[in-house]
Amino acid sequence: MNTQSRIVNFSPLGLEAEAKADETVLDVARRTGAPLGNACGAVGICARCVVRVLDGAESLSPPTAIETRVAARNKLDPAERLACQAVVMGPCRVTTGYW
Ligand code: FES
Repeated sequence: MNTQSRIVNFSPLGLEAEAKADETVLDVARRTGAPLGNACGAVGICARCVVRVLDGAESLSPPTAIETRVAARNKLDPAERLACQAVVMGPCRVTTGYW
């Protein structure tokens, strides 16, 4: 059993919570009340849920094929992830430009 912490910190909001198994960054944001855009039902096509990963990029699942396509189309920086596609596997800290 993996007992490593999966705490997601939403900076600089001061909100954080432990991700449950298979939860995405967007799932945890919703639970903590961190306002995070989303318009496609979390299927990975609207790119409204983009977050910048400040720490713990390795704690997130690798980009899915759809995320890779959307990231290229929207010219996302390598440090930016679609929160609805990034499954939390360890501790991380994320931000957006509107927090
Ligand atoms: S909610 Fe639409 S891409 Fe994440």
